[in-house]
Amino acid sequence: MRVSLLGLGTVGAGVAQLLAANRADIARKVGCGIEVVRVLVRDPGRARATTLPPGVLTADPEVALGDPAVDAVVEVMGGIQPALALIVRALRAGRPVVTANKDVMSEHGRAVWQAAAEGGTDVFFEASVGGGIPIVRALKESLAANRVRRVAGILNGTTNFILTRMTQQGLSQQQALADARALGYAEADPSADLDGLDAARKLAILSSIAYNARCLPREVFRQGIREVAAADIAYAARLGAVIKLLAISELRPGGVSMRVHPTLLPRAHPLAAVHDAFNAIYVQGDAVGEAMFYGRGAGALPTASAVVGDLMQAARFLDRGGAGTGCTCFHERAFVPLDALVSRFYVRLRVMDRVGVLAQIAGVFGRSGVSILSVQQTPVFEGATAARAPEADPHGEECAELILTTHEVGEDRMAEAMEGLGRLAVVSGVGAVLRLAPEDL
Ligand SMILES: NC(=O)c1ccc[n+]([C@@H]2O[C@H](COP(=O)([O-])OP(=O)(O)OC[C@H]3O[C@@H](n4cnc5c(N)ncnc54)[C@H](OP(=O)(O)O)[C@@H]3O)[C@@H](O)[C@H]2O)c1
Repeated sequence: MRVSLLGLGTVGAGVAQLLAANRADIARKVGCGIEVVRVLVRDPGRARATTLPPGVLTADPEVALGDPAVDAVVEVMGGIQPALALIVRALRAGRPVVTANKDVMSEHGRAVWQAAAEGGTDVFFEASVGGGIPIVRALKESLAANRVRRVAGILNGTTNFILTRMTQQGLSQQQALADARALGYAEADPSADLDGLDAARKLAILSSIAYNARCLPREVFRQGIREVAAADIAYAARLGAVIKLLAISELRPGGVSMRVHPTLLPRAHPLAAVHDAFNAIYVQGDAVGEAMFYGRGAGALPTASAVVGDLMQAARFLDRGGAGTGCTCFHERAFVPLDALVSRFYVRLRVMDRVGVLAQIAGVFGRSGVSILSVQQTPVFEGATAARAPEADPHGEECAELILTTHEVGEDRMAEAMEGLGRLAVVSGVGAVLRLAPEDL
């Protein structure tokens, strides 16, 4: 099978390396050799550590896709354009496409699948979610007999690394981000990671497969990790929990709900043991019960593992005829906004350390119909490991930190309560408002 490789960066170089390293076994497994005959890059003149034959590199998409000898296309250039146009072109011409591109698959899945249908071929996108973790094909094929009820995952390695460092070493978020940058886990602009956009895109892809309906990133409620402080990690530990950026989607009677937010997760939950830059996806289905998939969500070879696995699948179909599993979004489902859900909340407040404060706060919660589950009051606690002396507020009055958790309550009531707290003179600041994991997760 002759392959045109669009992109020779981190993943593209990993794909070329893996195809070369395991060449003989790969050929035996699929019944034919897989050879890279064209490589599209921006700058073919740049020196690269690759064993690809000279002359395969080009900056001209016409050369990369116009060659009639090309059987299949691998898109690992990233971004929406020109990647989308090249994917669509290849599919329309009847060439199977393997892509690692979560942006294209989550935002433009419909156009991609339409092109695949027109060309009578398939698109394989295992690497677009969870890097090397086999979750896309697991949901599409191995678990296809299930009605999936929920998918919950740690889908972003950068934020998981940051939260792990904060938890295990008591670092501030800034210090942990600096470590992530130094180790190459965070980009110069980490917004897509910190604000949950990367995880939201991956969740939209997983949800589309899990519930057989087109789910879009803009339908995902998003709260990133920026407001999670070292103090929250320490307070969560006292509550027997760890904080993880969870991506959760559920099939509900009204449709599909999707959310990405920092979540207090019981320490004993399997997802709580997913550390550093690792990813994991926890699936709840009516037949399988619970299944968890764990591994490296990024990196040259882990991602290449998924890309080359997909290429081998494409080779089998080319060899034996027929396309792959194809698009499985055959249901129309409404999306359920976060407002329609109930959650348990964690709230960290800075309050004046005086008589009657708790009663005022309880009054605000009560009037909004929010039932308090637990309350802890401590002197203001800035570090993760050592309680400091009580701090004075700007008016010279001593402050305390109040940590509340609530029973399940609707978003609107909680928002009303938080507005009410903001109006109380005894509340000098809201540190964080986070959600607890669903009780049946
Ligand atoms: N990195 C990971 O661990 C990882 C994990 C999972 C999924 N992915 C996905 O895999 C894809 C690739 O990621 P990456 O990290 O390998 O990216 P990367 O290192 O930035 O590499 C991009 C490659 O595409 C080429 N390219 C980009 N735009 C081009 C254009 N307009 N015309 C021609 N060539 C172009 C670049 O050419 P030059 O070499 O000449 O600059 C480079 O070779 C992305 O969709 C990403 O989200 C990455």
